[in-house]
Amino acid sequence: MNDNAGIPELDFDPYAPDVLTDPYPMHHAVREAGPIVKLKPYPTVVASARHEQVHAVLNDHVNFISGAGVGLSNFNKETPFRPKSLILEADPPLHTQTRAVLSRILSPKAVMQVRTAFAAEADALIDRCVAKGRIDGIHDLAQLYPLKVFPDAVGVGDEGRENLLIYGDLVFNSMGPRNELLAKAAARMGPVTEWIMANCARDRLRPGGFGDQIYQAADAGEITHEQAPLLVRSFLSAGVDTTINGIGNALFALANHPGEYARLHADPSLARPAFEEALRWESTAQTFFRTAARDTTIAGVPVEENSKVLCFLAAANRDPRKWPDPDRYDITRRPSGHVALGSGIHGCVGQAVARLEGELVLGALARRVKAIEVAGPPTRRLNNTLRALDTLPLELIAA
Ligand code: HEM
Repeated sequence: MNDNAGIPELDFDPYAPDVLTDPYPMHHAVREAGPIVKLKPYPTVVASARHEQVHAVLNDHVNFISGAGVGLSNFNKETPFRPKSLILEADPPLHTQTRAVLSRILSPKAVMQVRTAFAAEADALIDRCVAKGRIDGIHDLAQLYPLKVFPDAVGVGDEGRENLLIYGDLVFNSMGPRNELLAKAAARMGPVTEWIMANCARDRLRPGGFGDQIYQAADAGEITHEQAPLLVRSFLSAGVDTTINGIGNALFALANHPGEYARLHADPSLARPAFEEALRWESTAQTFFRTAARDTTIAGVPVEENSKVLCFLAAANRDPRKWPDPDRYDITRRPSGHVALGSGIHGCVGQAVARLEGELVLGALARRVKAIEVAGPPTRRLNNTLRALDTLPLELIAA
């Protein structure tokens, strides 16, 4: 069925539990219905699941802004649940200023400096997992690694780091509707927000770490001292849950594709492309939104000012118009152009860190483990934005 403007209208609710559990049939239907579609449960939203349109929207920050929120709710009409992010939920000129600081701190060159420490942790963790043999890929591996290396690099103390998981779960759930997932995530918060903000303060951050470097940028006048804690918060909200699920999804992909794992084991230098392909194949961040800043068009179709635009990143990453045999996990594919880390001015500022973590974990695994066997059915942790596993029983066969 089409609406008045000729846009196909579909019945799907992307946030329904069965759709979150298995989004692929919906992705297919939305992608094939047209370049943009409407979803009946959300009349003020237009959605795209095709790579060309998702990429175009993400790369047009003039017509499609982030300042009114990158989730379903429209901050022009609703109050955000927390003070807005000064980078993710900001537009130029503010975004340009804050982004310059964070991208310098997380530049590939700067990230090289943490490589040795990150590699040692990956090796030690994989040794412990191999010694166990049977592991839960999420709790014993995917969660432990980012929770150790990333807060260490930011300069956050050891105590209470599990709060980062609770906070990340809320932040990413808050980008969906006010459903049960969001209510449950909010109910778990307790004093977590205070813990997060307390740990963003300068006196709690190790001198020289990524967090402290934000305050140094404030000292240099590049940003204000009031902005600094909120930018540290961006690291803590965006830098943990995302990589946990990126690594968890990569383990899931490799465990379910023994042939691909065998290729990785035979040539551990494929660790980086294997992680990259997992980002494409099972995208951690399933969706991000923009808001139309004015009456505009997508693929020639009129889009009204203030419409929310839902970009199905995960579906774009399996668009057959862009990728040959898109449902195949192929570690030698080199999937450049995927949008799992976004695209355009908001493209993930932490991507060098994310890629480093993924590469080091998969590389350490490839060198020590001959085969990964699925040791039981995995369980999902449903989240309004993230594709996440709760458990992933695995048997690691030592090399
Ligand atoms: C596999 C792991 C990761 C994934 C899948 C991921 C995904 C994304 C995506 C899709 C965006 C674009 C959002 C948009 O367009 O609205 C983004 C932005 C961002 N990411 Fe990541 N991310 C990951 C890791 C990280 C890490 C490790 C950090 C911190 C060091 C981080 C910090 C950020 C920040 C601050 C932004 C906002 C950038 C901006 O608005 O200019 N991310 N990320």
